[in-house]
Amino acid sequence: MEERDLGGSGLRVPVVGMGTWNTFDVRGPRDEAARRRVVDVALEHGARFFDSSPMYGEAERVLGAALEGRREAALVATKVWASSAAEGREQVRQALGWFGGRVDLYQVHNLLAWREQLELLEGLRDEGVVGAVGATHYSPGAFDELEALMRTGRIAAVQVPYSPWEREAERRILPLAEEFGLGVVVMRPFAERGLLRRPPDPADLAPLEPFGVRTWPQALLKWILSDPRCHVAIPATSSPEHMAENAAAGVPPWLGPEERDLVARLAGR
Ligand SMILES: NC(=O)c1ccc[n+]([C@@H]2O[C@H](COP(=O)([O-])OP(=O)(O)OC[C@H]3O[C@@H](n4cnc5c(N)ncnc54)[C@H](OP(=O)(O)O)[C@@H]3O)[C@@H](O)[C@H]2O)c1
Repeated sequence: MEERDLGGSGLRVPVVGMGTWNTFDVRGPRDEAARRRVVDVALEHGARFFDSSPMYGEAERVLGAALEGRREAALVATKVWASSAAEGREQVRQALGWFGGRVDLYQVHNLLAWREQLELLEGLRDEGVVGAVGATHYSPGAFDELEALMRTGRIAAVQVPYSPWEREAERRILPLAEEFGLGVVVMRPFAERGLLRRPPDPADLAPLEPFGVRTWPQALLKWILSDPRCHVAIPATSSPEHMAENAAAGVPPWLGPEERDLVARLAGR
């Protein structure tokens, strides 16, 4: 698995990690053991960057349990998603309990009450329990505000959607992140599965074979990661097989402009 510096955050991240929205919001020994197997496969393949949030129901707790006994092998990126400072502090208290007293990348989720939450997270970073501080937003409608925050120098990384169906980040966020040396975490690489619903004919992927692409999800991940301004993509999955397939896309060679155009065309954009 290729690793990249997450901007100037001090974190070195694998290019393929894993998200936990929906997929890790489960309860009960059977489902939780099944998610532990997804994490087994992620770690075996070097996809050791895991993204979560208190917004994702049980996901933080389930991820924390899946990392029990091997927390040091992972990089945990989670979020604070709270409208008050007190609620934010409570979320942090719980997360630090689940993640062995450390969060590697702590992000302000959807820029919610970011002034309050950023102060809290900066304090934790200064204490050494948080590796780096970031911010996320899923909607280009909030990119003006996200850009303003990126320019303050207070965050080390951003998390935004980026795929052939959602290219706004390419025009606005990626150039600014490069200019300011910020890390970029790519959410929604498969557009919440939308991009996988009608995959192209496997024969259409033949020109991508020399790049190690065997499947449509791998083509989409390579499309993202072939832009060096993207540091880690975080496809969510509940399947060990899908995790292995996704992780296998995290190695060079990377696509050139022609191959990227082909993937965008096959995606219908
Ligand atoms: N969506 C948002 O607005 C949002 C916002 C903030 C942060 N994030 C973060 O970004 C992460 C990723 O985004 P996302 O979860 O919205 O969507 P996504 O990663 O684009 O798509 C996830 C879906 O793709 C399927 N999948 C994954 N790998 C596959 C494979 N190799 N073959 C076939 N199907 C595959 C999964 O189903 P299976 O379980 O069957 O594999 C899952 O339903 C989130 O989990 C979260 O951590 C998302």
